[in-house]
Amino acid sequence: MTGKLNLHKLAFIGGGAMGEAIIKGMTGAGLMDPASIWVGAHRQERAAYLQETYGVTAVIDNTEAVKGADMVILAIKPQMVDSVLDAALAEAVEEKAVIVSIMGSVTIEKIAGIFKGHSVIRTMPNTPLAVGAGMTAIAPGAGVPADAVQAAEQIFGCCGETLLIQEKDIEAVTAVSGCGPGYVYVMIDALADAGVMAVLPRAAAIKLAAQTFAGSGKMVLETGKHPAVLRDMVTSPGGTTIAGIKALENGAVRGALYNAVQAVLDRSEELRKH
Ligand SMILES: NC(=O)c1ccc[n+]([C@@H]2O[C@H](COP(=O)([O-])OP(=O)(O)OC[C@H]3O[C@@H](n4cnc5c(N)ncnc54)[C@H](OP(=O)(O)O)[C@@H]3O)[C@@H](O)[C@H]2O)c1
Repeated sequence: MTGKLNLHKLAFIGGGAMGEAIIKGMTGAGLMDPASIWVGAHRQERAAYLQETYGVTAVIDNTEAVKGADMVILAIKPQMVDSVLDAALAEAVEEKAVIVSIMGSVTIEKIAGIFKGHSVIRTMPNTPLAVGAGMTAIAPGAGVPADAVQAAEQIFGCCGETLLIQEKDIEAVTAVSGCGPGYVYVMIDALADAGVMAVLPRAAAIKLAAQTFAGSGKMVLETGKHPAVLRDMVTSPGGTTIAGIKALENGAVRGALYNAVQAVLDRSEELRKH
């Protein structure tokens, strides 16, 4: 989704790795005047870095950052919620401002309990946002105005793909695309190792493996074809690729991915109980 963002002022609480990735995407796409993007940071050096690099307005005082903003993006760590998102901050947020959270495992109910009377959108981005190839699921809470959902789609859309979901599905999304880059790095590393075994120099093997994952993902997204159809298109009867796929199936690659997703769901459940 392109076009200018229909916001006068956007505020970030927290300008760490994810906050910076979103700011980079937005300023790179010219989505809004960088000076109208405010960041409430924790340290002066960080604020100065963000201001110098992206032209945003970065301050140490979070209440100053949110004052007059039509949208506030919460980009701090989940464990900081109770100490950083206090009553004074909630009080400083404009009445009609929409709150957007990128925090893992913090519910809309919890955020709405802090920012009383405000609409809340919960999202689950992933780290390839930093290179404009992120995947962000967007879960609007009850009563979020359509233009705010559209603004969230524009913001995350300039850092990759977006998908509208319901909050009840967000743990599953986290287990697939939130943690997914971790699984894929392991697979790229393994394929590259196998390439080294098959005589390739390390750097060449990593490039071949990484671009094969990136390109195959692009094929699925751009052709709209089911991955099994694309797989069929590269497997000639009695050929080499089907021999490789048979070895992968014998290695239970599918089962390993089911297990990875289930392990994340189980671990999230455990962490929620503590
Ligand atoms: N990384 C991922 O893969 C990923 C994926 C999806 C969602 N998320 C979510 O994204 C959120 C941010 O993660 P991240 O990786 O960007 O973490 P991060 O790099 O640690 O960023 C958090 C930022 O918050 C700042 N901060 C601390 N106290 C603050 C305060 N009182 N006021 C304003 N800012 C304050 C920190 O500043 P200092 O460094 O100066 O302390 C830091 O820059 C998390 O909630 C995480 O669950 C992350």
